[in-house]
Amino acid sequence: MKNLTTKTHQKVVLVGDGAVGSAFAYSMVNQGLAEELAIVDVVKERTEGDALDLEDAQVFTAPKNVYSGSYDDCKDADVVVITAGAAQKPGETRLDLVNKNLKIIKAVVKPVVDSGFDGIFIIAANPVDILTYATWKFSGFPKEKIIGSGTSLDTSRLRVALANKLDVDPRNVEAYIMGEHGDSEFAAYDEATIGSKPLKTIAKEHGISDDDLAKIEDDTRNKAYEIINRKGATFYGVATCLMRITKAVLRDENAVLPVGAPLNGEYGLDDIFIGTPAIINAKGIEKVIEVPLSDKEKDLMAKSAATLKKVTADGLA
Ligand code: 2OP
Repeated sequence: MKNLTTKTHQKVVLVGDGAVGSAFAYSMVNQGLAEELAIVDVVKERTEGDALDLEDAQVFTAPKNVYSGSYDDCKDADVVVITAGAAQKPGETRLDLVNKNLKIIKAVVKPVVDSGFDGIFIIAANPVDILTYATWKFSGFPKEKIIGSGTSLDTSRLRVALANKLDVDPRNVEAYIMGEHGDSEFAAYDEATIGSKPLKTIAKEHGISDDDLAKIEDDTRNKAYEIINRKGATFYGVATCLMRITKAVLRDENAVLPVGAPLNGEYGLDDIFIGTPAIINAKGIEKVIEVPLSDKEKDLMAKSAATLKKVTADGLA
């Protein structure tokens, strides 16, 4: 049996205390994860306010040291989670944010690295695959120490939609959204299963056609737009995904999670971070799990990667 806790005192630094960051901090406190959580943002008052607010939750959760910090706090942190960056406005795509947010990520990664930080980066700001790649480039860290939220949120959305249709617990739906966290992502339906039975077979038994599955995939792809149109931003979903990835690192879980992972020949691709399942532990990305995609899906993965590579090259040029 694996020892679930590697260290008795674990520290996480959150950089970016906007809606996503503060929902992540709340989720961490609620889950009783990490003995220390430092919150860093250009708006210092906001981090102080959040630290005071989260302190009030501790009687009902677990005593945690949550405080408004600085980049210097990264030096002995196990994980730095970056949510800093501009968010999409209604009508904007994630890729539209690239220039603005590349500048921000560069300005954030440098002081984190300068602090002496030697832990795991987890990146969530958009376009997340490109910013994850940029974090790798700007930090000079080994690839496996950089994890993007990738298609974790999209995969959750897909699983919930399928579960609702099929009347099963979403945690038992083994289906992934892969590729870009964005408009070129796709559902890897051909390999999806529930209880080891192919999802496509189960769908047929429930009278769900391929068109219905395509609509679920489309709705998943567009769900962020639906949320942004209604409440201006998305935060609880992605914050919970970030908490889950952070937990897998802190507890050295070897958990299989959909993340933004660096490819080294998997799917015929390299020099890219993109959504795929991977094994996550205290070292970061232990291993990418190469899903045995069908030919059609391989094609979709290649197209999605090409989109990301083009925007990355333009953005970093
Ligand atoms: C989301 O998918 C906007 O990327 C964010 O909710």
